[in-house]
Amino acid sequence: MNKTEIKILPLTADENLIGKITSLHKQIFDKDHFTARFDEKLLNKYFYLLLSNSSYKICAFKDQEVIGYLIAGEKLDNVLKKFSKEYFIRLIILLLKNPRFLLEKFLGLMTRLIRKNKKSKADMRLFLIASKHDENIKGVGKTLIENLEKHLIEKGITFYGLSVRKHNQQAINFYKRLGFIEEFITHKSIYFIKKLS
Ligand SMILES: CC(C)(COP(=O)(O)OP(=O)(O)OC[C@H]1O[C@@H](n2cnc3c(N)ncnc32)[C@H](O)[C@@H]1OP(=O)(O)O)[C@@H](O)C(=O)NCCC(=O)NCCS
Repeated sequence: MNKTEIKILPLTADENLIGKITSLHKQIFDKDHFTARFDEKLLNKYFYLLLSNSSYKICAFKDQEVIGYLIAGEKLDNVLKKFSKEYFIRLIILLLKNPRFLLEKFLGLMTRLIRKNKKSKADMRLFLIASKHDENIKGVGKTLIENLEKHLIEKGITFYGLSVRKHNQQAINFYKRLGFIEEFITHKSIYFIKKLS
């Protein structure tokens, strides 16, 4: 796909756009991702909260179709805590229906209790990125990242970070290709950091 065909637009917490992002999220993320198990309504609420609290969010369009999105910001973990509190019962039911996530959350909690939770140097974080990719659509992820970095540089931010699940080799290769460097590893994730110049 010609890069000029990818149009980057702000991702607002608009109901119609959130609906499109929700269905793209469900298409792209496999069932290994807890949020991919959310029903549409819960996922809409998740994105609404994220988009209302993140400082940088964009989506990629090809013609009228949303083919990718990126959400970045600071303290987005607090948004997740708020979401977990607000939808506690629904999340517990989902966890009980999908026990492997229950085990994963339990192990995460234990690790945090035993070892002091490691903290990244970067407050600015790429929270979520996803793009459609096949032989006809290429370069969407890179375009989204380039757009984010341009914005961060303009804001005087010199580095930012992200975490990715250890088994998500596709995303790990993508991040390495784009110049991210490993910061540290936890039981579940690899933390990457990237300096901007
Ligand atoms: C990870 C993801 C966003 C990458 O986006 P993408 O649109 O496929 O990547 P691009 O086409 O822009 O590729 C950019 C560069 O990374 C390279 N790259 C992408 N995926 C790669 C892979 N699996 N292995 C090696 N290199 C890869 C490309 O070759 C390209 O390099 P180039 O600039 O030299 O040509 C996309 O695959 C995705 O949505 N994955 C599922 C969701 C996910 O896991 N998100 C991240 C965790 S939050």
